Amino acid sequence: MQRFMICGGNRLKGMVRVSGSKNATLPILAATILNNGKSIIRGAPGLRDVSVMKDVLTSLGAKIIWDNQNMEVDASQINSSEISEYLTRRMRASNLVLGALLGRFGRIKISYPGGCQIGSRPMNLHLKGLRAMGADIYERFGYIIAEAKKLVGADIHLDLPSVGATENIMMAAVLAEGVTSIRNAAKEPEIVDLQNFLNKMGAGVKGAGTDNIKIEGVKPGDLKPAVHAVIPDRIEAGTHLVAAAVTGGEVTVKNVIPEHLEPLLAKLREANIDITAGDDWLKLAGAGRVRAVDIKTMPYPGFPSDMQPQMMALLSLAEGTSVITETIFENRFKHVGELRRMGADIKVEGQSAIITGVPKITGACVEASDLRAGAALVIAALAAEDGTVLENVEHIDRGYEQLEAKYNALGARIIRVHD
Ligand code: EPU
Repeated sequence: MQRFMICGGNRLKGMVRVSGSKNATLPILAATILNNGKSIIRGAPGLRDVSVMKDVLTSLGAKIIWDNQNMEVDASQINSSEISEYLTRRMRASNLVLGALLGRFGRIKISYPGGCQIGSRPMNLHLKGLRAMGADIYERFGYIIAEAKKLVGADIHLDLPSVGATENIMMAAVLAEGVTSIRNAAKEPEIVDLQNFLNKMGAGVKGAGTDNIKIEGVKPGDLKPAVHAVIPDRIEAGTHLVAAAVTGGEVTVKNVIPEHLEPLLAKLREANIDITAGDDWLKLAGAGRVRAVDIKTMPYPGFPSDMQPQMMALLSLAEGTSVITETIFENRFKHVGELRRMGADIKVEGQSAIITGVPKITGACVEASDLRAGAALVIAALAAEDGTVLENVEHIDRGYEQLEAKYNALGARIIRVHD
C-alpha cells in the first residue's frame, strides 16, 4: 500500500501539462483488435488502467511495445478471445474489448466485471445492443459468452447514453454487415476520438458527438492499422484547475481542448473564479473564498460525474451553501465521510450532498476509496491547515500520471510513502 503525506497551505503557481486521456486511450487500444497489423497510439498516458489494458491485449496474443507515451500494438497474432477474471477484477474497463473481439473473431468469453466502488454498473445496454446485431449471448458461472457467426447492422436505441455501451456497439458495428445506428448515444469527446481512430483504420463511422451515430460496416480487408494521437485528458485538466482554485493559486494548464471543459468552466466562473482560455491552454487565477454553486452531474455536455468529488472538496470551503446532485452513479459520495474528517460540513440526502462552506479545513488521516475520490482528497489536503496522510493512492495512479510530481513542481509538498 502506498500513501501520500501532504503538507497543506501552499499556493500552486506555474504551468502544468496535461497527459493523454485515459478514457480515450482505453477504448482506442481495444479498437486496435479490429485490424490485423501494427497500430501506433501516441500520447498513451503512463497509468495503471492503461497498463491493465495493455495486459488484456497481451493476454489475447497482441504484441505491444510501450515506449514512453507511444504504444505500438501488433494485433496480427491475436489467438484468444477469452478475458480472465483476474483482468476484469483489476479494471472494469477491460470489458471494452467485447465489441471489437466479437466483431473480428465472432466470439468472446469475458468474466463479468461486477460492481465497483461507485455503483453497480450493469452491462445490460452493451449486451442488448450486441444481441440486436445478432450475437448470441449467455452468462455462465460469472462469465459472459458472446458468439456470432456474423453481425448484422441494427437500429439500436440506448435507454440511457452509456459511454461504454456506445463504444462497444460502435466497435462491433465496424465489421458488421450493413448499417448500424445508435440513438441516444453518449456524446463525450472520448467517443469522437474513438470515431476518429476507427475511421483512420478505414471504418465508416459518423455522427459521434451527437446522439445519433451511424456505422456503415466494412470488410475485414478494408481495415488497416493506424497512427493516432489521443486527445488530452479533460478530467485531469479539470482536476488541476480545481486544485489551483482551492489554494488561491495562479496556474496555466497546458495541452487542453478548452471546449471539452466548458461544463466545468461555467461552474468555476459562477463560483467567481477567473479563467482565461487560449487555443490549447487555460489559466486560472484564484483569489479569496469561492462562491457556493449548485451542481447536477449529467452525461456530456452536462457537468461530468468524474469532476463531482473534486468540486465537492472546493465547495467545502466556499462562502455559502452548495448542493451537488449525483445522477450518473448511485454510490459516488464515498469521499463525503473523508472530507468530513477534515472538517467539511456536508450532509447527504439521497442523491444530493448539501455542502455548507467552512472557512478552513484541517489535515487528517483519510483514505481514497476510488480514483476521483482520491483526487478530491488531494485537493482538500492542499488547502488544509496542516498535514494529511492519504492512504490507498494506488487508486489515484489509475487515472493521474505522476500527480505528486506535477503538483510539487507547482509548489505543493507531497511525499509518496511505500509500505
Ligand atoms: N449503465 C447501465 N447499463 C449499462 C451501462 C451503463 O445501467 O449497460 C449505467 C451505469 O451503471 C451508470 C450509467 O449508466 O449508472 C453511466 O455509465 P456509463 O456506461 O456511461 O459509464 P462507463 O462507460 O462505465 C465511463 C468512464 C467513467 C465515467 C463514466 C460516465 C471509461 C473507461 N469510464 O464509464 O470514468 O465516470 O463513463 O461519464 O470511459 C473515471 O474515469 O473515473 C470513470 C469512472
